[in-house]
Amino acid sequence: MSTVVSVLTTKDGQGSTSLALSLAWTAAEKRRVMAIDADMSGTGTLADLVSLDFGSRGIGNLFGTMAISGNLLEQQAVSVRSRPRLRLVPGLQGFSGPGVGELLPRLAPALAVLPEELVVLDLGAALAHPRQESSRRTGQAIAQISNRVLVVLHDSPARLVKSIQILKAAQLPQAELVVLESRRGALRDQIHRAIAEHLPGHRLSALLPWDERRAAKAEDSAVPASVPGLLDSLRLAEAAPAPGEANGRKGP
Ligand SMILES: Nc1ncnc2c1ncn2[C@@H]1O[C@H](COP(=O)(O)OP(=O)(O)O)[C@@H](O)[C@H]1O
Ligand SMILES: [Mg+2]
Repeated sequence: MSTVVSVLTTKDGQGSTSLALSLAWTAAEKRRVMAIDADMSGTGTLADLVSLDFGSRGIGNLFGTMAISGNLLEQQAVSVRSRPRLRLVPGLQGFSGPGVGELLPRLAPALAVLPEELVVLDLGAALAHPRQESSRRTGQAIAQISNRVLVVLHDSPARLVKSIQILKAAQLPQAELVVLESRRGALRDQIHRAIAEHLPGHRLSALLPWDERRAAKAEDSAVPASVPGLLDSLRLAEAAPAPGEANGRKGP
């Protein structure tokens, strides 16, 4: 069974798609990985970031199906030629989808049978999707299908306040925070204090640099930014846990 890592953010533009892709790309150096663009806002970008030619394939083709099988999902996956162990399911092109609280339970049967060791789901700003029932329900659906839930946050104080509000409302179980630091660590103490005070159930899993030059280079070259030590800092370098040992993932 694959390890499912969900990556989301509280508000677009904080680097979550880039991080999800770096993660999938780096892990695919040695392991088979599937990256799924499940950002339901309608601006699927994961495939664009590796200049993937995907024709008409994409997650939107699965919307009519109640229980999505592994086969159906694999039919939407595109191999990434420059990264042979990586397959990618492109996201929505110009139309928005349901909240992930509705999509993920239907995707669960497919995720349970994929041959990949690691599945990385880009969920975009799922907790703020206008068509969700409630962010609490969305958070529960995410936790249900994920072994790990990474929430990517930018460290600017205004965005952090907003992120805390959204995460408090969602009460996302088992969320791990990945903070992108734009001030070379100058806000680190404040971040630690804010998390301890307002989000006591959330673990700060990684602090990574907000580096515009590197991000622009990755975009221009269509080669995801490599983040040194990323898999180690997220404890994803080791082999996938055996079924049953999975941290937090509940069976269907
Ligand atoms: N670590 C980073 N440092 C600097 N800029 C970044 C970083 N990650 C992403 N960006 C840039 O920020 C913008 C939004 O990134 P993206 O990954 O699409 O965010 P999101 O998926 O949260 O909306 C893009 O222009 C991207 O190049
Ligand atoms: Mg995104």
